Amino acid sequence: MDKIVSLCKRRGFIFPDSAIYGGLANTWDFGPLGVELKNNIKKAWWKQIVQTREEVVGIDTAIIMNSKVWEASGHLQNFNDSLQECKSCHARFRHDYLEQGKYGEITKKNGKIVCPLCGGELGPAKKFNLLVKTFLGPVEDTAHQTFLRGETAQGIFINFKNILQSSRKQIPFGIAQIGKSFRNEITPGNFIFRTREFEQMELEYFVAPKEDEKWHQYWINKRLQWYLDLGINKNNIRLNPHKKEDLAHYAKACTDVEYKFPFSSDEWGELEGIANRTDYDLKTHQEHSGQDMNYFDDQTKQKYLPFVIEPSAGVERSMLAFLLDAYEEEETSQGKRTVLHLHPSLSPMKAAILPLLKNNKELISFSRDIFQSLQSYFMVDYDAVGSIGRRYRRQDEIGTPWCITVDHQSLEDKTVTIRDRDTMEQIRIKATEIKDWLKEKLEY
Ligand code: GAP
Repeated sequence: MDKIVSLCKRRGFIFPDSAIYGGLANTWDFGPLGVELKNNIKKAWWKQIVQTREEVVGIDTAIIMNSKVWEASGHLQNFNDSLQECKSCHARFRHDYLEQGKYGEITKKNGKIVCPLCGGELGPAKKFNLLVKTFLGPVEDTAHQTFLRGETAQGIFINFKNILQSSRKQIPFGIAQIGKSFRNEITPGNFIFRTREFEQMELEYFVAPKEDEKWHQYWINKRLQWYLDLGINKNNIRLNPHKKEDLAHYAKACTDVEYKFPFSSDEWGELEGIANRTDYDLKTHQEHSGQDMNYFDDQTKQKYLPFVIEPSAGVERSMLAFLLDAYEEEETSQGKRTVLHLHPSLSPMKAAILPLLKNNKELISFSRDIFQSLQSYFMVDYDAVGSIGRRYRRQDEIGTPWCITVDHQSLEDKTVTIRDRDTMEQIRIKATEIKDWLKEKLEY
């Protein structure tokens, strides 16, 4: 973990937020490479969920909604964590995590768990709502109080009828959304794993009530495969079905996709939850809004509230998993190298153009022409500084799959070498063929 955190800062993936003012705890900014990686993760998700599925559409809804949405969804009442505060050092802990030993070995005095930090007595467990409050308009009273969304899903449910009417989809069909969510987490931490502001990628997939279990299993398999296809080592990922007592207030069943994170010790952490939300949300919005949320099945002539299967993933969590999984320190015949074996579709830079010498005008001009001709199609880097070996290392460290080197022969026969990040093997191709070569390699 420490190595990833340091690489992320050094190379411009992730910076501590507000650093010039001493920072803001557990808040992070995404730098030039981080934003590319994040965008590529979102693109890969959108491709599986929306682009390649005729029955799924995308949506982008407001972060601040009418607060009645959160009353109806049950979040105002039930979206709580239980908090315990140490009477001595005043550190705060999530009650369920204390009981699960997530803060280290459990120590008890008189049968009660004591503070994992100082051994002091813990106060009683108090419920704490996770929705982040704010006010709209200049008057800060309860009439103007509202919330930043705690999940993107509710924006989908309240638009269910709009989508149904405008896109005339037949069940089964889905509505997908990617966007920021906010939660007043009691114990954020572990780098970007748990933060108070994060991005979710959520699909609400509407099915006939009796078909819910079949579709639940379908999406569990699909989503696990997505991580595997993008290169996650199968030994580091698993499915974990929830016990009944751990289910969210809206769910009948839920299976998490978990990754083995190297936090203080190896720990399975949730990347994504795939829940069967039944007709809970449509029913509760129907009751609270007075609007009919039923679906009319043209074939059976029946009216019913569809059930919902919801794969819900975190962008930052999968980003962390992809980075950790890709990281390798390798001994090579030319010395040690750090390499990110990211799947090429996720790599921030698809290729780097490297002129062998920086003070040869012809070489530079030819390299710049290649670089500029590729920019319209791919994110590409140009680097003319330092020895060629150092430049390869720099690109290995940020996961660039291919380095394109322009040398003396290039000037004679208009060819370049392409070095593969993982095998370090080189091939020589015509400069005019680079674009199509990359396009073919990047097909995913
Ligand atoms: N709509 C369902 C829902 O929100 P969730 O399990 O609470 O379910 C889904 O959240 C995903 O969102 C998680 O699997 C995780 O990837 C991400 N997530 C949730 N809370 C987070 C946090 N505080 N920081 C970063 N990611 C978070």
